[in-house]
Parts: sequence; C-alpha cells; structure tokens
Amino acid sequence: MQIRLDGKVAIVTGGSKGIGLGIARAFVEAGAQVMITSRKAEACAAAVAELGEGAHFEAGHVGREEDAERVVEATLERLGRIDVLVNNAATNPYAGPTIDVDRPRWDKTFETNLTAPMFWTQRVWRRFMKEHGGAVVNISSVGGLRTNPILGVYDVTKAAMIHLTKQLAAELAPRVRVNCLAPGLIRTDFARALWEGDKGNRVAASLPLRRLGEPEDIAAAALFLAADASSWVTGQTWAIEGGALVDFGRVT
Ligand SMILES: NC(=O)c1ccc[n+]([C@@H]2O[C@H](COP(=O)([O-])OP(=O)(O)OC[C@H]3O[C@@H](n4cnc5c(N)ncnc54)[C@H](OP(=O)(O)O)[C@@H]3O)[C@@H](O)[C@H]2O)c1
Repeated sequence: MQIRLDGKVAIVTGGSKGIGLGIARAFVEAGAQVMITSRKAEACAAAVAELGEGAHFEAGHVGREEDAERVVEATLERLGRIDVLVNNAATNPYAGPTIDVDRPRWDKTFETNLTAPMFWTQRVWRRFMKEHGGAVVNISSVGGLRTNPILGVYDVTKAAMIHLTKQLAAELAPRVRVNCLAPGLIRTDFARALWEGDKGNRVAASLPLRRLGEPEDIAAAALFLAADASSWVTGQTWAIEGGALVDFGRVT
C-alpha cells in the first residue's frame, strides 16, 4: 500500500527545520500542499525553497493568537482547505529540577507546548475540520511517558499533550482523528546538547536499535497518521524511539 496525501492540505508548525521540516518533506513527497510556519520568515523561506513545489509558508509564533489566525486564514485563502494539522513546534527554556522552576519559564513552556496546540486545533476545527473532517498529529516526546532529572517541566507539557490527544480524539470523532507521536532522541538542533559528541554514541549504543533517531523516522510515522491508511486509528500515542522504552531499564 502506498501512503499518499494527494489533494490534501497540511499545516506543519515548526516546519522550517528539524522534525517539522522532515514531516513537511514527507508530506510534499506524498502529494500534499504543505503550509509550514515558524517564527523566522527567512528560515521558512529557505525550507520552502528546498522543498519546492507543494511547499508554502506563513511565518508566525505558535503562542500568539493573532499569528495563529493569520496562518490559518492564509492557508484557507491560498490553498483552500486544511485536512491535516501537525502541532510540532515546542520549546524548552528550563533545565533542572521541576520543583525549582520559576513561574515565567513554567508559563512559557506550557504556552508554547500545550496551550498553542490546543488552540491551533480549536481554530482549525472551527474553521474547516468540523465540517469537512481531518487529522491532527501532535508531536509529544518519550519524556511525556517517563520521568527525567532535568527535563521535568518540558515533560509535564508533553505528558499533558498525550492526554489532550485522547480527550480531543473522543470529542472530535468521527470526522476528525487526533493522534500523537512520542519521539525518542532525534538528531536535531533542539536536542543537540543530548547527542553531540560522544554522548550521542553512548545513547545510540544503549538503544535496542543501536542508532539515534533522524527526522525521517518521525516523518514516516506522521505520514501514516495523517493519511487515510490510519483511518481507524484515533487517540493513540506512538513512541518512535529506537526501542528506548523496551530497553532493560537504561535511560537515554
Ligand atoms: N529532537 C528531539 O530529540 C525530540 C525528542 C522528542 C520530542 N521532540 C519534539 O519534536 C518537535 C520538534 O523538535 P525539533 O527537535 O525538530 O526542534 P528544532 O530542530 O529546534 O525545530 C523547532 C522548530 O520549531 C520552530 N519553533 C520554535 N519555537 C516556535 C514558536 N514559538 N512558534 C513557532 N515556531 C517555533 C522553529 O523555528 P523558528 O526558530 O523559526 O521559530 C523550528 O522550525 C518538538 O515538539 C519537540 O518537543 C524532539
């Protein structure tokens, strides 16, 4: 079976690089029109130039309501529909024990990683999917499934995203499916501190599948969840992590 998105339109937040760019590339190659968005217009423009026909951009900050409105309206105006929303953009401004976090960084992490995906989904539902159907793919993290000594605040937002996925899947069925991916360590700038140099080799060696993840690993799963091939799947979280969670207790 070929997994295709011909005739479909997708929005990918944080689509200018890393996992989001990988997802945008897979979607374009599968025949979709893809609207990528991130804060930096130049980065979006470079990504669109690289992806070629089928890729479009409208820059914006996912946490700003006016930007979300502009991106969604631009997508409808220019591409006519929104069949797929990938809530991928996220931030991690704090590393340390959760108990010591300051309020501004707690709020910022929740605003970008949880509140924004909630209200992007609401907006896309109200403007298109409620009437026409669609698929939402949330990008969480294996951190949302287990504890971590320094990434607890970020991980709490990612755990909440997993429950938000289930809740919205129940509420928006049967026309709209909502699923989630929980990546393990992927070689992007976001996680560079965790994989650069020998650290990455050690993590790779500890994983059952013996290598770190690449954006393409997540993109393949996102394509399946966005496409009709997964039309009987909703509310699920799929960990794509090289086997990290089935390892004998070692931590990445
Ligand atoms: N890499 C990993 O190991 C890993 C593991 C588990 C989960 N994840 C998740 O995967 C997703 C993508 O991460 P990544 O590793 O691909 O990160 P990345 O390479 O740093 O890319 C992040 C993307 O999000 C955009 N972005 C960041 N903040 C934004 C905001 N406030 N508004 C709009 N766009 C914003 C960035 O562009 P601008 O700077 O132009 O805004 C960029 O396009 C995130 O949800 C992350 O939590 C990553």
